[in-house]
Amino acid sequence: MADEKKTRILITSALPYVNGPVHIGHLAGAYLPADIYARYQRLRGRETLFICGSDEHGVPILLRAREEGVEPQAIVDRYHLMVREAFEGFGMSFDHYGRTSAPLHHETSRDFFRKLAKTGVFVRKTEAQLYDPEAGMFLADRFVRGTCPACGHDDAYGDQCESCGRSLSPRELKNPRSAITDAVPEVRDTTHWYLPLGRMQSSLEAWLSGHEDWKPNVLGQVRSWLREGLEDRAVTRDLPWGVPVPEDVAAEASVDARGKVLYVWFDAPIGYISATREWAELRGEPEAWERWWKDGDSELVHFIGKDNIVFHCIIFPAMLQAHGDYVLPANVPANEFLNLEGRKLSTSRGWAVWLHEYLEAFPADYLRYALCTNLPETKDTDFTWRDFQARVNNELADTLGNFVNRTHSFALRAFGGKVPPLGKGGPEDRTLLEACAKTPARVGEAIEGFRFREALETAMALAREGNRYINEREPWKTRKEAPEVCASTLHAALQCAATLSVVLDPFLPASCRRLRAQLGLEGLRDSGPGGGLGSPSREGCFTWDDAAHPLLEAGAPLGDAGILFSKIANEEVEVQVAKLVEGGGEGREEDSGYVPLESPCAFEDFAKIDLRAGRVVSAVKVPKSRKLLRCEVDLGFEHRQILAGVAEHLAPKDLEGKRVVVVANLAPRKMMGLVSEGMLLMAEDREGRLAPVTTDLEPGSVVR
Ligand code: 2FM
Ligand code: ZN
Repeated sequence: MADEKKTRILITSALPYVNGPVHIGHLAGAYLPADIYARYQRLRGRETLFICGSDEHGVPILLRAREEGVEPQAIVDRYHLMVREAFEGFGMSFDHYGRTSAPLHHETSRDFFRKLAKTGVFVRKTEAQLYDPEAGMFLADRFVRGTCPACGHDDAYGDQCESCGRSLSPRELKNPRSAITDAVPEVRDTTHWYLPLGRMQSSLEAWLSGHEDWKPNVLGQVRSWLREGLEDRAVTRDLPWGVPVPEDVAAEASVDARGKVLYVWFDAPIGYISATREWAELRGEPEAWERWWKDGDSELVHFIGKDNIVFHCIIFPAMLQAHGDYVLPANVPANEFLNLEGRKLSTSRGWAVWLHEYLEAFPADYLRYALCTNLPETKDTDFTWRDFQARVNNELADTLGNFVNRTHSFALRAFGGKVPPLGKGGPEDRTLLEACAKTPARVGEAIEGFRFREALETAMALAREGNRYINEREPWKTRKEAPEVCASTLHAALQCAATLSVVLDPFLPASCRRLRAQLGLEGLRDSGPGGGLGSPSREGCFTWDDAAHPLLEAGAPLGDAGILFSKIANEEVEVQVAKLVEGGGEGREEDSGYVPLESPCAFEDFAKIDLRAGRVVSAVKVPKSRKLLRCEVDLGFEHRQILAGVAEHLAPKDLEGKRVVVVANLAPRKMMGLVSEGMLLMAEDREGRLAPVTTDLEPGSVVR
């Protein structure tokens, strides 16, 4: 088990924009992992606070309000409630869920801004910006659209290109137009406050150097920003919606504050602080928030999606450092993206599984399970309804459900609804009990390392072992022949189910609560809201670590039976797939069937790959392999053996004699006992047809 460095742990999930409902991509990024982590910390008895809330400012909300002809407040009121309820239904265990339109949030953000202004942190710049003469306003961020200077995408936003991911400023766009009126913008002068990140870079680097253990995907992005050199960032905007710039600060600078608000990415992370303040006020201990934000003994962990990395690892920490009163994040375990049925999730195109709709069809724990097995922890992953069905049916129902159900119902029938004694117990019983004893620490270690997939897999391995044990011990036979042996078997199996009800609780909280009721197991610390507060060793409560010891006493009464997981029929998932296709119909022609783009790759990384022209001298099928063709390839300077996994698509004659493109410096790999020294590049179309990438040039030619 990892050492506990700090007394308290403050966990946050990214505040979702409430310009629409939450979908499974959000859950896989910033919410499910955070909830598992928070529940685990509470079960360990650690003082834990889990904070989130709605991000209610920003241009997308304004645009949505304009589209619908209503006030922005009406939009955020609607979606704030909807999102909060959906999160509750999903089992998110926030100790407090706030919102950034709350007066306390405005006050907290304005005070933060004021402190940075008064201590001379900001610089002010008067610069030409785009102005919509028809709407009579400056066009910040997403109020402008135009052509991306990097990739040529003709509908990029003023702050980011969704096609290539590059972060932009409105004036970089080619052929800009107003997103409100479609007018061609004019250029006018306006004054704004900037966070001088350029001169803050060295102190940020010093702080980041203490966090070399962060996830590689997070550090990779952070290093690439730092390598390019940080630039000053405007933290105010000319917009009619947001936290108003403090009038006293503006007056002192002789700037007209009217129409100026804090940039949404300045106020949103302060939402973590203001929501903690709100939580403290609601408890009647208004100062209690300071323990979490101002005490060096508090560890702050931000869960986010990869699109938020720069804000949580660079900009917000820079703000916190400059302010000086607050703790900085101890870790930011960002996830990559989840795709849906092979395509990028898209709110605007309706290509999404919405949480509130999902909850009308299936229990929350089914989705928590299926998503957790497939979290984009190190790279983008893909959610499919078929995989969801298979996970629920084969793993939840057939493995976990089957094990606990057969164990519990057998004990009810054969032992009068009481936990039978272990008695002398045999080596097999002890082996199972030893596996139970080791599991909490193993699962815990993976959770502490933000490896949630591995953690769940480790817990489920115990369920599989339990099932195997019952099959091998055959208690239905020993019941008559050797009742004491049968009792030992059921004792050990019930202990195993009890351990599972603890180590799976962070993942499947509702099901584990029911399982504990069936086992008559009471007194586990609450993994839900409020469960991480108060004394770490609450009287009469047991914790995660206690699950390393047998939890049930012989003779203790068991609870009633019940089915924990039901199988999902084909028709049920077909309905979901049909709904998806109908909902996502709009804009489908544009991208249907194309594999989503990988995340951007640094030029230096690409340059490491040595591509050469090569001629396939011969190709033969590898005996006993469905997939492999063994090719001899002439690279000009030498001949190589390369195994290509294409035999299901191409015949040897499709390759022989072709001049192909080869990855020539790929580390050798062994497959089916043969060494492959490189890779042939293939193109794959939307129907899954493969063809080699060819060239006319002579073998050995460099491809770049
Ligand atoms: O990407 C988003 O949905 C943002 N609203 C996240 C904000 S996180 C934090 F800073 F509040
Ligand atoms: Zn672009």
